[in-house]
Formats: sequence, structure tokens, C-alpha cells
Amino acid sequence: MTNADYCPTKTDAWNNLQELATNAGKTSIAALFENESGRVAEMSISADQLLLDFSKNLVSQRVWAELLILAEQSDLKNHRDALFAGAPINGSENRSVLHAALRAQEQDLSTQEEHHRHAIISDQLAQVRQVSDAIRQGEWLGSTGKAITDVVNIGIGGSDLGPKLAYAALAEFSHPDIQIHYIANVDGAEILTTLAKLNPETTLVAIASKTFTTQETLLNAKTALRWFEKEMGLKNAQSSTHVVGLTANPKNAKAYGIPESQILEFAEWVGGRYSLWSSIGLSIAVSIGFDKFLEMLDGARAMDLHFQSAPLNKNMPVAMALIGIWYSNFLGAQSAAVIPYCERLQLLPSYLQQLDMESNGKGITQDGKSVSYDTGAIIWGQTGTNGQHAFFQLLHQGTRLVPIDFIASVKDSLSNEEHHRVLLGNMLGQASALMTGQPAPSGEPHRHYPGNKPSNTLLMRSLSAKNFGALIALYEHKVFVQGSIWNINSFDQWGVELGKKMANALLDDSPNITLDPSTKALFEYMASND
Ligand code: F6P
Repeated sequence: MTNADYCPTKTDAWNNLQELATNAGKTSIAALFENESGRVAEMSISADQLLLDFSKNLVSQRVWAELLILAEQSDLKNHRDALFAGAPINGSENRSVLHAALRAQEQDLSTQEEHHRHAIISDQLAQVRQVSDAIRQGEWLGSTGKAITDVVNIGIGGSDLGPKLAYAALAEFSHPDIQIHYIANVDGAEILTTLAKLNPETTLVAIASKTFTTQETLLNAKTALRWFEKEMGLKNAQSSTHVVGLTANPKNAKAYGIPESQILEFAEWVGGRYSLWSSIGLSIAVSIGFDKFLEMLDGARAMDLHFQSAPLNKNMPVAMALIGIWYSNFLGAQSAAVIPYCERLQLLPSYLQQLDMESNGKGITQDGKSVSYDTGAIIWGQTGTNGQHAFFQLLHQGTRLVPIDFIASVKDSLSNEEHHRVLLGNMLGQASALMTGQPAPSGEPHRHYPGNKPSNTLLMRSLSAKNFGALIALYEHKVFVQGSIWNINSFDQWGVELGKKMANALLDDSPNITLDPSTKALFEYMASND
């Protein structure tokens, strides 16, 4: 478990890094390449089919060495062991954090408890296989005897973002005759316009909710049930073959009326934002097939093993986490951009917003003290080349420090050589231009590119299910490492509760809460008919 006395700012490394940061303003990344032999090799890490080059950062070899010492002086290694061993590291909820167990294989297990857990996971995954196979093979029939052509995943946050990202990312492998739709927002326009395009007789709704209590999901599900009734006279659709439940709360799903055999359960120790590997990923398995779903798990497992065994200086999640800490805590960066040069990864930034910001947007330490240093960065981004014609102006010539993750797949069998060369050329060109900059021609200061803008480049050989799994697990562990060094609990999300409570209170006909004057005036304005 964690060391109660640990505080990052009390380590020698933290103090040394603070000193090094005072000179960092004078650091030129281009000069680091000239002065530091072997920089690219030292600052590159391979893990199976992924390559991370972090040499284009405002990080000298001296700073890198000190960041590694910070990791050593933190509780990271113990904390990592505790994570994989299933210790209750989510202290505020007294829970283990075991999403990695979902992708573990028999040979990774040692204790009896791990074997027992693995048997339960295997049963749960077998049900995902059985249901997804039946849907894919046209054997899962709706109430009028027709095969399923459309799956509507109703869920929000982790019950939406991961599956939706994977569905888009792995489009190359998707079933030709089955479309998946994702409904998250409680905005009725979303579900109503989606359902209007579908045939209820061939539609399956997957109600995806870890808790099976989430307001948005339950209201959207209710609307879907009404739609079945209105369009095909199907009463109590929740008990028909048009509805399945994906949840860690089977009791609620059963009470809702879903037959037990159609409730695909997963364990409480799978955090919502880490749940795409569980039955929450049913829509992924329907789309790409269960074997490819297993490949995705396998890629994540490969990253788990890398994270557990690679030395810190060659450990990809550790490197990405330390670089992020350098910018956040020592150079004052407020945000970090994620820019995939791959349109199928367009949802990656929003997926990572939940993963990173819900995990590490915390202000108290594991033992409940206020932190005296910044924690999770603001994550944002979108795909290149689109972003080049939107926000890259600010990246090149603006005043803010924004470290960037450039991400690309070296080969893309859905594209062609001509397009892919241009796409990758743009990525490399932008990363290089941001770093090297260019002096302004005389009298034209607006054409000055200051350069020295840092980035990581992350390459996958191809966007296979395996590499996609590894990519997501990489970010999961990066977030874990940062949370560990910051000594915060990355696995709860109490921050979202108060707003939910206020929203619920406002839904009462006569809200029994004292509203602030601004909200009261807005509420009254909305309630008035004028
Ligand atoms: O509001 C935050 C949150 O609890 C997320 O962590 C979670 O992914 C989402 O809501 C949805 O929760 P559920 O899967 O229980 O419906």
C-alpha cells in the first residue's frame, strides 16, 4: 500500500527539478540535440508495435535523469504492485482497481484469489462471446423473428466513450450488416433522431451502466422502450430480446425487468472509465467479432506487462507521465494536447478527457490533505491535419506552453499510399516546425516562428485491434503513474456528485433548495411562458 509520509514536494528530486526549471527558459531543444549525443536513442521507447519518441521535449538528459529519480523516490513501484495485486487502492471507496485483470491470461496468475477472479472474468467474457456471436450470426432474433441490424448502446461517460472510440477506431474490422449507435446525452434530440432512422423489429438496445442508476441513461432507455411500444406495439420491451443490460449492478437491471440471461455483468472493481474491456464493450465485440475483441485485450495485456517489467527509463507510460509532470509542475503548462493523425482516432481526445481529467482532476492527497502543487492537466485536441487549420496558429505563435502528443499509424490499409504519405508528412513536418521554429525576415515580425515547442511522437505499426488496446492501456497507466507521483486517488470521482444532486433537486416541481440569485433568476426565466 502507499507510504503515508510520501509527499512529492518533499523529495530531493522535486527540489532539484525546481532548480533545473529556473534555467529551463533558456533551454533550446534544437541545442539539446546538438549537445547531447545519443539523445534520440535515449529518449525513444519501443513496446511491441508501439514506438514513443520523446526527444523533442524541453527535457535535457539532466532533467530526464532527475525525473527518473523522482519516480524512484515516489511510491510508484509499490503502488504499481498494489494495483496489480488487487489491493484496495481506491481508498475513498475502499475498492480494488482491477481493469488489468480483465485482460490477464492464465500464465500471469499466481495466487488462488487471482485464479478465482480469472474464472469469474472468463465466465463473464464467455457471455459477451455468446451474445455477440449470436447477434453477428443473425441468430439473435427480435420479437418478430428478425435478425438484428442495429445495436443502440445507451450509456454515458465510461459506458459510452470507450466503446464508441473503439467502434470508430476499429472500423476496418466492423460487421458489414450491423450498425452500432451510441446515445449518451440526455438531450432528447439525440435519441429521438437516432431512433427515427431505425427499424424497431431489428434493433437491440444495450443499456450500459455500471451502477444502473444514471439519470441520463435511464431516461434514454425509457424513451427507447416507449419507442418499441409505439412503433411495434411491444409492451415491456425490457423483458424482450430487444434489450440487454451491461452492468455491475445486476440487481437493479433485474428489477428493471431485464431477464437474467440478458444481463451481462462485470465486477464492481472495474472503474467506469476503465470498463471498455468488460461487458460494457459488448458493442465492440458485436462490431469487430469476439476474437478481435480478445486481440484488443491482448494488446492491453502486452502494455500491462511492459508497464510492470520495463525499467523506468524504458517504460513508456512512466516516460509519458514524467514528461507531463515536468510541464505541469515545473514549467507551468496548464494543458496538454492530443493530436492523432488518424481520422478513426478522432474520439481519442474526448476519451482521454474522461480518463485523465476524471482520474487526476483532484485537489486532495490520498490521506485527505490539500495538495500544494498542480495535478491533472486540461486535455484537449482533435485530429491532424484538421487541427492545423484551426488551433495550430496558437501552437506555433501563441504565448502558451502546450505539450503535444502526436499519434499516428505507420501503415493504414483503409487509406492509400498517396494520402497516407501526405498525412504522415504533415505530422512530422508540424512537429519539427514547432520545435525548430524560424527567424522572421527583416521587418516582418509576424513571420517569426519562435520554435522550441515540445511534443511526443507515438507511432503504431498499424491500427490493429491489438495496437489499439495497447494504446489505450498506455494512457491508462500514464494517468496512474501521474496520480501515484501526485499522491492522489485517481480512481474516484466525487467531484461530479454535487452538480448531479443540484440538477436533481431542480427537477422537483417545487425545488426544496436555496438557489443562488443567478440560478434562481435563470430558473424563473425558463419557467415563465413569456
Ligand atoms: O458521472 C461520472 C460517472 O460516474 C463516470 O465515472 C461513469 O463512467 C459515468 O458516470 C456513467 O456511470 P454508469 O456507468 O454507472 O452509468
